[in-house]
Amino acid sequence: MVSDNKTLDKVYTAQNSEQLMDAYKDWATKYDSDTVCEFGYVAHIESAKALDKALDDKECRILDAGCGTGLVAEELSKLGYTQMDALDYSKEMLEKAAVKKLYQDYIQADLNAPLDMPDDSYDAVVCTGTFTYGHVKPHAFNELVRVSKPGGIVCFTIREGAFEDYDYRSQMLKIEQENNWELLEMQDTDYLKNEGVRCKMCTYRVTK
Ligand SMILES: C[S@@+](CC[C@H](N)C(=O)[O-])C[C@H]1O[C@@H](n2cnc3c(N)ncnc32)[C@H](O)[C@@H]1O
Repeated sequence: MVSDNKTLDKVYTAQNSEQLMDAYKDWATKYDSDTVCEFGYVAHIESAKALDKALDDKECRILDAGCGTGLVAEELSKLGYTQMDALDYSKEMLEKAAVKKLYQDYIQADLNAPLDMPDDSYDAVVCTGTFTYGHVKPHAFNELVRVSKPGGIVCFTIREGAFEDYDYRSQMLKIEQENNWELLEMQDTDYLKNEGVRCKMCTYRVTK
């Protein structure tokens, strides 16, 4: 997947975690302005709306998995949520997120690997912009379910194109068949509006 933007290309064509984290290290300072202003990124707004629709307690404990610079937390904060932890593999993105002072805890971890975190830790997990080319793979859904409490909500985006190319749907269906989550909503929404890119916005209830 190649775009006409060099920064985005470096992110999307990374061959491994090291290259991807190197790309985010360079991008961290300009990420918010590039994504929101230049590309018309709206996934953070759509995710916060989708998660809020499924939750009934503003005091619930939320993990922002692949939090980046904290754009999702900014939107959730506007909606009244206060109990949020930040997780990202990029130290530089976590540092940018910390400046916004919206999270309780900051966790540097790889979502493609088992998380060093107890089962049933969160009422909700939001994961926006990370199920995409060269980022987080379908098996990561299992860890999002594991760290969520029974009855918890898992809300995430999957970029169009990657949705098909990485076959995320198979793993989503497998977890449904294993009765570990149930689909509440899946719809197509804008993702990078100025680039004409959309995504699947998915909301599941954990039923394990
Ligand atoms: C497109 S950004 C999205 C950030 C934020 N959620 C948002 O909506 O603005 C993707 C984020 O996923 C992080 N990421 C990529 N691969 C990861 C991995 N394997 N584990 C944890 N975070 C990862 C990147 O460091 C980056 O901060």
